[in-house]
Amino acid sequence: MARFPGQDGSDGDAPARFRKEPDPRFWRMNRSLPFDWQLAPYDILQSQAHARALARIGVMTEAEAEEIGAGLERVQARIETPGFAFEESDEDIHMAIERLLGEEIGALAGKLHTGRSRNDQVATDIAMVVNAASRRAMRLCGEAMERLLALAETHRDWPMPGYTHLQRAQPVYLGHHLLAYFWMLSRDVRRFAFAAGSSSVMPLGSGALAGVNWPIDRDIVAAELGFAATTPNSLDGTSNRDFVIDYLSAAATCSMHLSRLGSELVIWSSTEFGFVELDEAFSSGSSIMPQKKNPDSAELLRAKSPRVAAALQTLLGVMHALPLTYGKDMQEDKEPLWDAIDTVDSSLEATAGILEDIAFDRQALEEASGDEMLAATEVADLLVRQGIPFREAHGIVGELVRDAIAGDGTLSGLSREQIAARSDALTGAGGEEYYEVLQRGSWLESKRIAGGTGSEPLTAQIAAAHAALDAVRDAAGA
Ligand code: ARG
Repeated sequence: MARFPGQDGSDGDAPARFRKEPDPRFWRMNRSLPFDWQLAPYDILQSQAHARALARIGVMTEAEAEEIGAGLERVQARIETPGFAFEESDEDIHMAIERLLGEEIGALAGKLHTGRSRNDQVATDIAMVVNAASRRAMRLCGEAMERLLALAETHRDWPMPGYTHLQRAQPVYLGHHLLAYFWMLSRDVRRFAFAAGSSSVMPLGSGALAGVNWPIDRDIVAAELGFAATTPNSLDGTSNRDFVIDYLSAAATCSMHLSRLGSELVIWSSTEFGFVELDEAFSSGSSIMPQKKNPDSAELLRAKSPRVAAALQTLLGVMHALPLTYGKDMQEDKEPLWDAIDTVDSSLEATAGILEDIAFDRQALEEASGDEMLAATEVADLLVRQGIPFREAHGIVGELVRDAIAGDGTLSGLSREQIAARSDALTGAGGEEYYEVLQRGSWLESKRIAGGTGSEPLTAQIAAAHAALDAVRDAAGA
């Protein structure tokens, strides 16, 4: 097994420093190629920019840099060819690309690793991966937000029960409820944007840890690779993985939000609730019960979230107490990152898909929201308007609820006398207000406060959501 192919001028089977081959039991755990091959396109872009930088300072000629660049293109094409296999002796993608480049262009390939270490190289690759993933997540969040906003607009005046403790609490409009998820995702976009920012600082040039001996213009390389800046400290540059943690933290929160949406869709699509039906294209049947249509997509949204949280936990664990600078520990950053990226991307795409063809049942929602007991707080507020402190009013209405349960089960079924027995404040001025307040429409429209469910603030909220979505589109496109 080659440790550093060609390093000693031999065919690469016997590196200069070592007399022994790595033990297969060590190799199996040490070899990162089974997962870091995905870095290839970034590693190649980076190597091409590095070759040009070396040519600018005379380490190689322009012609050599071009030959290296073209050779790397061929390596990329080979890697992408179906059936292509790496060598068992390739330790990681960086070594594999160097070996393949040697096969393409011979000894010149050996000039590429001047003024660079795998430590700053891998940090740069990972920063590029995180940057691309963060931007993609911003765009995908924007797409799901677009669906939520469209649904909120078409369901802006559909009453439904709002819940606390999953018990019917106060009625709200479905549009208001859907926009709650819109705002969660809008905050996720900000978190992903932060990760995009923290991953836009280029570590390359930090070398193994102390910097390199060559006066490479890092700013040019950074600009060529799309980085906004270069790391100000080589020790931090090689050993920083905060940007991975920033991405995973945003991803964990975003997945948690999607799990809440998924969970509600599972509950709402049950026969017991009957509020919503997912499209067949996002549902599965049962292998034994022909009548079943299961909301698998929503269940999976719910269950995908913990593995993303686990990825964050893993990275925090890998980096915990790690002395400066690079440690092989940091190779363990990749698998959790890939898994989180796949999970978040697919969850966001599925969310947009689920919301595309979802059907809410207006009647079921409305019937559930018509439970008159939901107006209990409205009655309490009526007493408050008569000058009674809210706590006291809460107690009076509590008694009325008991009376109602003992009677026909409704607050409006109570007689004037029964009401007066609990508080004369309710029967003053003819006592009609009590019965009026129990009319359903008023419970929703009384929430006129900014951010409330009433039609007026909801219209303002929808306008604000449009502005927020435009900003997300701008940011994601940038
Ligand atoms: N495969 C390694 C990783 O992912 C690349 C860096 C190796 N650096 C080193 N000094 N051995 O971390």
